Amino acid sequence: MKMVLASKNQKKMKEMNEILSGMGVEVCLQADVGLDIDVEETGTTFEENSRLKAQAVMEASGLPAIADDSGLCVDALAGAPGVYSARYGGEGLDDAGRYRLLLANMPKGAARTAKFVSVITCCFPSGDVLTARGECPGTIAFAPMGEGGFGYDPVFFLPKLKKTFAQLSAEEKNAISHRGLALAEFQGKLEEYLKK
Ligand code: IMP
Repeated sequence: MKMVLASKNQKKMKEMNEILSGMGVEVCLQADVGLDIDVEETGTTFEENSRLKAQAVMEASGLPAIADDSGLCVDALAGAPGVYSARYGGEGLDDAGRYRLLLANMPKGAARTAKFVSVITCCFPSGDVLTARGECPGTIAFAPMGEGGFGYDPVFFLPKLKKTFAQLSAEEKNAISHRGLALAEFQGKLEEYLKK
């Protein structure tokens, strides 16, 4: 079964194929089916935005479509940047600019607990919808550490491992990350769904 990923991110496609290809599912990019759409993420939850993206791509392609929406929720910032993680601080910032702004915005003396969240939604042309959610708890470091990963990885600290996400290999990160967990749950749900 072919599934269109509602994203232009090759890395996400590779990661999803690694897990789903064993089930006979081939995940391709929008461009592979001649689509070039940017879905506006107008929702206020990861569930809403993930659904908006998958639904739009399913309708445009006529094929099952899969989307993930993810972000970092910081307790001391009332869950911010949350669904706005990719846009935190406005258009002008890059990944390093965004995590530096986050460090600067952390209230002095407050708890530094946080979590990454990922919600995966798959919309089928039949109207069926599958969703899965993964969360990874951690804390916000006082300074960036590590060179790996992307986004907020250098400031997302895992107390048990005493490392940030940016100090883990891709395999180590996938085994515990919000996206890895959501994908594992999604894989189980898809297996059940395909048996029907
Ligand atoms: P999305 O593509 O709309 O889901 O935006 C997700 C944003 O959340 C990214 O641009 C990153 O800023 C952040 N993010 C999500 N997952 C991760 C991760 O695993 N590491 C670091 N940052 C992440």
